[in-house]
Amino acid sequence: MNELDFTGKQVLVIGGSSGIGNGIARAFAMRDAKVCVTGTRAHSTDYSEEDGSSFEALDYHQLDVAQPSAIEAFAPPLQRLDVLVLAQGAVIYRRGEFAMEGFRRVMEVNLMSLMACAAKFHPLLKTSGGSLIIVSSTAAYHATKGNPAYSASKTGAVGLTRTLAQAWAEDGIRVNGIAPGLVDTKMTKATTDNPKRLAGALEGIPMHRLGTPQDMAGAALFLASPLASYVLGHTLVVDGGLIL
Ligand SMILES: NC(=O)c1ccc[n+]([C@@H]2O[C@H](COP(=O)([O-])OP(=O)(O)OC[C@H]3O[C@@H](n4cnc5c(N)ncnc54)[C@H](OP(=O)(O)O)[C@@H]3O)[C@@H](O)[C@H]2O)c1
Repeated sequence: MNELDFTGKQVLVIGGSSGIGNGIARAFAMRDAKVCVTGTRAHSTDYSEEDGSSFEALDYHQLDVAQPSAIEAFAPPLQRLDVLVLAQGAVIYRRGEFAMEGFRRVMEVNLMSLMACAAKFHPLLKTSGGSLIIVSSTAAYHATKGNPAYSASKTGAVGLTRTLAQAWAEDGIRVNGIAPGLVDTKMTKATTDNPKRLAGALEGIPMHRLGTPQDMAGAALFLASPLASYVLGHTLVVDGGLIL
């Protein structure tokens, strides 16, 4: 038996248009799952390789999770749902999260929308005995200079993972999470495009390299598979040792 064969399974990755979510989506598609992904832009052709996007074997749909009404109206063409990955995330630099408008926006995208998406797809996950994976961050475990909403939202995401796991275990749904460290995506360009900042960041990572979407995909495949059948409410830190 190959526990990492997802043939016949349907996967939805919210925030699967680029970076970590896109890498996770492609990993499921490579293992023969039928995979839908979402992003904020109108069409998949609005993304490029530069964005960390590839849509081979993925079915793209637009969804802005900052709008609760858009989540309510969202109707992906799914007959069933075996794995829901919530990888959406945003950050505002230049102290924008210290103003309430910025703070609220990041909380809406990074935390409120997690609950809205999880609740929306709960019935489908219950029918299939499926798996929910919430992407938080190692930012849940330390202060993030200049980004109060990012840190608060990611800490909230870890708590939400525990509590939904406890609540939905009796429905046969396993809820777990992934806390990435520093991963090379369009979100982290402010660090990775600046040689001095990048060198400083790598210095703090015991493995001395950035994480990749593929590194995160390994954790997602494990958590969604029968190999993790007794893992519940756990957020797996995947950070090359960053927060050790
Ligand atoms: N990169 C890291 O070092 C790192 C570390 C820890 C945690 N994370 C988390 O990992 C997740 C993926 O981030 P990433 O690094 O892969 O960055 P990314 O490439 O920018 O991906 C973020 C994803 O979220 C989507 N998104 C952003 N705002 C949205 C909105 N209002 N409505 C719907 N979707 C929205 C993006 O859509 P568009 O592509 O259309 O913008 C994209 O699909 C995020 O939750 C992030 O916080 C990242």
